[in-house]
Amino acid sequence: MSPALDKLQAGIRATGQSLRVNGGSSASFVIETRGLRKVYGAGSAEQVVLKSVDLKVSEAEMIAIVGPSGSGKSTFLHLVAALDMPTSGTVYFRSRALQSLPESHLEDFRNQSVGFVWQRHHLLPDFSAAENVAMPLLMRGARRAEALETAATWLGEVGLSAKARQMAGELSGGEQQRVAIARALVNQPPLMLADEPTGDLDEQNADAVFNLMQRLHRTHRLTSILATHNRALAERCDRVLSLDRGELKPLPGFSAAQAAH
Ligand SMILES: Nc1ncnc2c1ncn2[C@@H]1O[C@H](COP(=O)(O)OP(=O)(O)OP(=O)(O)O)[C@@H](O)[C@H]1O
Ligand SMILES: [Mg+2]
Repeated sequence: MSPALDKLQAGIRATGQSLRVNGGSSASFVIETRGLRKVYGAGSAEQVVLKSVDLKVSEAEMIAIVGPSGSGKSTFLHLVAALDMPTSGTVYFRSRALQSLPESHLEDFRNQSVGFVWQRHHLLPDFSAAENVAMPLLMRGARRAEALETAATWLGEVGLSAKARQMAGELSGGEQQRVAIARALVNQPPLMLADEPTGDLDEQNADAVFNLMQRLHRTHRLTSILATHNRALAERCDRVLSLDRGELKPLPGFSAAQAAH
């Protein structure tokens, strides 16, 4: 492992320590939601998207959330990532209620504890693959040479060392999503949240990207939640939950033993 990556991990461990406090929820869960409710609009336009969602996610678990379009999968992931706030209820990250944190701490949580993979990669097309991956480090004030060194390590992890200098806009869809995954994880967050990460890819690329995410999940001992319409990929996770009419429930007929390991 490179010294830059080493240093980064030490910093993140330190941040993790300072975020770990007692009280709130059981410390054995990385993410816990209690009574999570999200209502959009008001009056006759009111829409209850999440009624009262309770979920406990253990360390190193990989969970898939399936459900019809509009059922609230993205809404739920955004609440867990603190990209949006619930109408009521609480998200706990390692026992800490996100809703009790000031904005500056929430920013740290988003930047350091969450690796978010979107359906569309959102890379900067006129920057190289390496520069895109290095971006979160540069935003944290890392020196350019160190950030690019760490980015190179991550591009190696996603099998794209050879493309480090290529402009992101010139990469294939599958390659762009792999770069986006490297960028999401370059800060070594403990949580990987993914919203339809294979939704824009053909079957072969979807499979390759999911395999990559599963490998990174295991080797970095991540805790992962992904929303997907792809039932076959969902069933390769440890648990599959179904979101429907505001409620999150185990998917009928799925048992963890079915998940391919
Ligand atoms: N910012 C918002 N303001 C108002 N309504 C919203 C907002 N965001 C989402 N919604 C509504 O909440 C519902 C759930 O949307 P969400 O995007 O979470 O669904 P989804 O399960 O991710 O769907 P898809 O599978 O199509 O991505 C939808 O009816 C949507 O229109
Ligand atoms: Mg969605």
